[in-house]
Amino acid sequence: MGLVNSVFVLRDAMINGYAVGAFNVYNIETLKAVVRAAHEKQSPVILQTTPSTIKHIGEDFFAAAAKAAAAKYNIPIILHLDHGNSFELAVKCIRAGYTSIMIDGSHLPYEENIVLTKKVVELAHSVGVTVEAELGSIAGVEDDMYVNEDKSTFTDPEMVPHFVEKTGVDTLAIAIGTAHGLYKGEVKLDFDRLKKIHNLVDVPLVLHGASGVPDGHIRKAIELGISKINIATELKVAFANAIKRVFKENPEENDPRKYFSAGEKEVVDVVKKKITLFGSGGKA
Ligand code: 13P
Repeated sequence: MGLVNSVFVLRDAMINGYAVGAFNVYNIETLKAVVRAAHEKQSPVILQTTPSTIKHIGEDFFAAAAKAAAAKYNIPIILHLDHGNSFELAVKCIRAGYTSIMIDGSHLPYEENIVLTKKVVELAHSVGVTVEAELGSIAGVEDDMYVNEDKSTFTDPEMVPHFVEKTGVDTLAIAIGTAHGLYKGEVKLDFDRLKKIHNLVDVPLVLHGASGVPDGHIRKAIELGISKINIATELKVAFANAIKRVFKENPEENDPRKYFSAGEKEVVDVVKKKITLFGSGGKA
C-alpha cells in the first residue's frame, strides 16, 4: 500500500467513535517504532513531523522512509506536516510526498488565517492531499513554537462553521484546554465546548497536546467527537529514558544500534498503549 491522505481514515474514525493517533517522529527509529506498533495493533496511523524536525532531517528523507514503511506494512499510513508555518513549506512537503498538511495560522488575525488556510487547501486538494487547520490557540511549547498560557485562546464554537466553510479544510484542531509539552497542574478540558463544536460541523476534530492527559479525559474527548489525537512529548520522554538507562547500565556503550534500539522498543510500547486507548486497533 502507498501512503494515503486522511479522508477515509479520519471520517471512519469520526463515524465509528474512535480516534487515530498522530505520532510525532524525529528519526528513523521513532518512525519505525510508530509503524511497527500500528502494524502489530492493525491500526491506521499518522506519522507527523514539525517544521523544526524537517529542518533537522529533511522532508525528502522522511517521505522516503514513510513510503518504504507503507510499502512494507499493509496498513493505512498518513504522512502529515504538523504545525506547518508557511505556504512554501506546505509546497515542499507536498512535493516530497506528504499526504496531509497542517497549516497553522492560529496566531494570525482571523481573516488572515482564513486566507492562508484557503490558499493551502486549494493547492493541496488539487493533488489529493488533505489539510488540517487550527482555530483558537493551544498553549505550551512544541519545538521552537511557544504559546504563553495567557495568550492561548479556546476555540469559539460560533466561528467554527464559518471557518470550515470559508476554507474548505478537511480537519480542524481545536483548543479546549490541552497544552503542548508536559503539564504542571491538573488537566482541565472544556468538554461542553467540544460537544458544541462537534454538533456544529461535519469535519473530524483534532486534539493537540495529548501527552500527559489522563486516559479518562481522552476517552471522553473521543466520545464527544475527537477523531485525531496528537502525541509528541510522551514519545520523546520514552525514547530518551530508554537511552539514559542503557548508558547508566553501561557507560562505555558506543553502538548507536544498541542504544537507539532500546529507545525504539520503548516507543513501540507507548504507541501500542495509545492505540488501545484511542480504540483504533483492528481498524486498519
Ligand atoms: P504533546 O507534546 O503534548 O504530546 O503535543 C503533541 C502535539 O500536539 C503535536 O502537534
